[in-house]
Amino acid sequence: MALEFSEAVRRIPVYPAASAYALPEDVALLASNESPEPPLPEVVEAVTRVLGGVNRYPDPTNAKLRRALSDRFGVPPQRIAIGNGSCDVLLAAGQALLEPGAELVYAWPSFSVYPHLAAASGARAIEVALNDRHEHDLDAMATEITAATRLVLVCNPNNPTSTALPLDAITAFLERVPRQVCVILDEAYCEFSTLEDPDATVDLLKRFGNLVLLRTFSKIYGLCGLRVGYALAADEAFVTAVNQVRQPFFCNAAAQAAAIEALKHQDAVASRVERAVIARVELEDGLRELGIEPAESQANFAWFDLPGDDPADIEPELVRGLAERGVLVRSGSALGRPGALRVTYGTPAQNARFLRELRSLLGA
Ligand SMILES: Cc1ncc(COP(=O)(O)O)c(C=O)c1O
Repeated sequence: MALEFSEAVRRIPVYPAASAYALPEDVALLASNESPEPPLPEVVEAVTRVLGGVNRYPDPTNAKLRRALSDRFGVPPQRIAIGNGSCDVLLAAGQALLEPGAELVYAWPSFSVYPHLAAASGARAIEVALNDRHEHDLDAMATEITAATRLVLVCNPNNPTSTALPLDAITAFLERVPRQVCVILDEAYCEFSTLEDPDATVDLLKRFGNLVLLRTFSKIYGLCGLRVGYALAADEAFVTAVNQVRQPFFCNAAAQAAAIEALKHQDAVASRVERAVIARVELEDGLRELGIEPAESQANFAWFDLPGDDPADIEPELVRGLAERGVLVRSGSALGRPGALRVTYGTPAQNARFLRELRSLLGA
């Protein structure tokens, strides 16, 4: 007899993980929006220091990390939620806010975990198509908000399309959302944006009591292997609720220590952003030379439709061809747009290798 699983398990989509884990070392891993740079030596030392004490549970209140984030952003610690990656806070928010009969609004294509929130809770997902510049259509999203809406997700910059909306567009949207509806602004890639100061949204927390900023140490800080993210909430009740639905020790001791240390090195963050911007220009120039127009990226990855009349037909072959040549990228069909590719910025050598192999596969 087979095991019988819940209705939710039948609904939850399987996360489209990159299949990179058993590959040789010289493979260019450009499929998961990770940092190509290893953690700073000071971060590795901070992690090493706590390893001798892991016979004890980690601090369940994450007090030192919340204090460090509070000092950095001027948000009181009780309005900061920590998670085992920002995904942990996101899924907990789904559990805390959603239920059958409730609605969740987000753009599509966007972060592949968003559909999970509705599937896990039994709420209804309203997916609003991006505009033809691959950006959120905030007007269309605002009109989808009903009395049943509990949660709106805005991914800025958007994964997988790399585009970002300016602060005034986000502010105007927030003005249209009823105050009982929680808005999570998912800013996993905000540090890579050169549109404006990535921390400008923190001030919005003073104006909009329903706003939550979701951020991570996985991307610019390069700590995705340790799993640590956070949310800055306008309302302390959000933090209480997401903590209530999770197991007590959701962030391990090594992750807490690494994040605290990483925050002290903002100069290193600035240099990483500079290198990402150089990679952006190099990749975009290289793509344009192949007749490809990428979306306007404000993130650490490029997004583009493949050239030709039948991009969806050539996509699987190209993704396979690149993998056979040691370059892993993410296919658009796994992310909601067949015929597109998402390519994370790697080291300069990896970016050049990707362009070289793509050129050869396209016969350009
Ligand atoms: C838009 C977005 N939000 C959240 C996350 C989750 O990141 P983590 O759980 O590693 O903090 C990701 C990861 O790729 C992402 O792309």
